[in-house]
Amino acid sequence: MSMHELEATIAQIAVPGKGILAADESTGTIGKRFANIQLESTAETRRAYRELLFTTPGIEEFVSGVILYEETLGQRASNTKLFSELLAELGIVPGIKVDKGITHLPNSRDEKITQGLDNLTERLATYKEMGARFAKWRAVLNVSANTPSCLSVRANAQALARYAAICQDQGIVPIVEPELLMDGNHSLERCAEATEKTLYTVFHELHKHGVILEGIILKPSMVIAGTEYTPKSSIEAVAQATVKILRRTVPAAVPTINFLSGGQSSEVATAHLNAMNATKPHPWLLSFSYGRALQDICLRTWQGKPENMKAAQQAFYKRAKLNSAACKGQYTQTMEG
Ligand code: 13P
Repeated sequence: MSMHELEATIAQIAVPGKGILAADESTGTIGKRFANIQLESTAETRRAYRELLFTTPGIEEFVSGVILYEETLGQRASNTKLFSELLAELGIVPGIKVDKGITHLPNSRDEKITQGLDNLTERLATYKEMGARFAKWRAVLNVSANTPSCLSVRANAQALARYAAICQDQGIVPIVEPELLMDGNHSLERCAEATEKTLYTVFHELHKHGVILEGIILKPSMVIAGTEYTPKSSIEAVAQATVKILRRTVPAAVPTINFLSGGQSSEVATAHLNAMNATKPHPWLLSFSYGRALQDICLRTWQGKPENMKAAQQAFYKRAKLNSAACKGQYTQTMEG
């Protein structure tokens, strides 16, 4: 394993004021996003949309890494450059989603396990040749009174640790993503308990598998009540609970924690990140690895129409800029304009 290689990638991604764009929606997921704007999902519309994102002028000021889907890693911009080359030239590190999605976990409480370990070594070698320097694997956990079960937490943590060890062995930085879903009517306190148990188990397994913590990126969900729970928590309550659980469970050796947005509105996701960074110092960087919270307004502005491209890029640039401000605790609601 080349620690130097992992360190160099981390140094390029973990930059104060910068974060990661998750643009790794599978063909099925991007199809649903396009359906919302009545746009047909074809290889070409998907390519055109990713080109819009990656060629947004100035985006490298706020984005240090982009997670791609396998199809996109093999696609080219209109100027014939591979997307991975185009990003690398901007100083943005190209990454790749490597998990194969979720499937039923037998004997659990109707829970899921992430698959994709088979042939991962060989796949990573190919992705690396195509320019990828980091990878992503998402574990999905339900939160309710009796979930996540010990079985699902343990099985998902073991898979994450196996994946992370294989990545590091190939000189690829693993994003370790245990997502506790916001679906349901659980309280913030219940989410805090479940998140603590999950992160504790994930780091236990990472240790058992010999994963070097200095060479990973943690991508957790925030500690937040379920979408059906009332009353809504304040921005400060979510920020405080999230930082409290992270301090209990995430070793200081982890360089950066880049949150997923998980269905939060764009403004709320930015406000939560800002509130956490307003209570510095923390042992790790706290940044973003948002998908929907960075792209929603861009997609809605674009509508698949070439004449809207510039406005869509401006909308994406603005969201990235506001999240960059949130990384420094300098975001305010008035900046939404
Ligand atoms: P969201 O920010 O939309 O949750 O997506 C982030 C991601 O990459 C989920 O795996």
